[in-house]
Amino acid sequence: MMKTLHSYWAYIVLVVLIFTVINAVIGLIQKKEFTHKEFRLGLFSLITTHIQFLIGLAVYFVGGFQKGLGDMKDAPVRLLALEHPLMMIIAIVLITIGWSKHKKQVKSEAKFKTFAIFYGLALLLILSRIPWSNWF
Ligand code: HEM
Ligand code: HEM
Repeated sequence: MMKTLHSYWAYIVLVVLIFTVINAVIGLIQKKEFTHKEFRLGLFSLITTHIQFLIGLAVYFVGGFQKGLGDMKDAPVRLLALEHPLMMIIAIVLITIGWSKHKKQVKSEAKFKTFAIFYGLALLLILSRIPWSNWF
């Protein structure tokens, strides 16, 4: 059940995050004003990834994926036991740092830049370690 939830929630995470990053890059390039819409997008990305983290933890430990840590030569096992969880946690930390940082900034340009860098990097890390062959 948790696995199914994690699998479907991932679509929401990716769509919202991609939208937030593209929006930030456009805002930065076109020197737009950072409005409530941008604030909501950033917050929505933060909340959906935090929830995905909790669901992921449940999938991991209920599914006994930590047992795979003893089998690091097997690439598919290593991906689920170590690479995917670790990379996703780094990505979520980046998003959380980006969120905190943007709150302290005043200028629109600085806020867009923070989202573009922190959320953008997180997106790349997430895309790099999604178990694509399991997902589709
Ligand atoms: C942004 C965060 C995350 C995203 C977008 C994400 C996405 C995904 C996707 C798309 C799958 C494949 C689902 C499937 O097999 O149908 C998956 C599997 C998995 N994820 Fe995540 N995940 C995230 C965070 C985490 C975290 C933090 C953990 C653990 C601490 C975790 C543990 C797992 C495990 C163990 C599987 C394998 C499930 C299985 O094949 O039985 N994930 N994840
Ligand atoms: C173990 C799980 C979680 C950890 C370790 C965690 C950690 C954090 C941290 C460190 C922040 C601070 C960001 C800042 O400085 O503004 C934060 C903010 C936030 N988290 Fe989580 N979180 C978790 C789960 C969740 C869940 C499940 C939700 C949603 C249901 C959530 C929603 C939020 C929201 C809305 C904020 C932003 C607060 C604000 O700035 O207005 N988190 N989280």
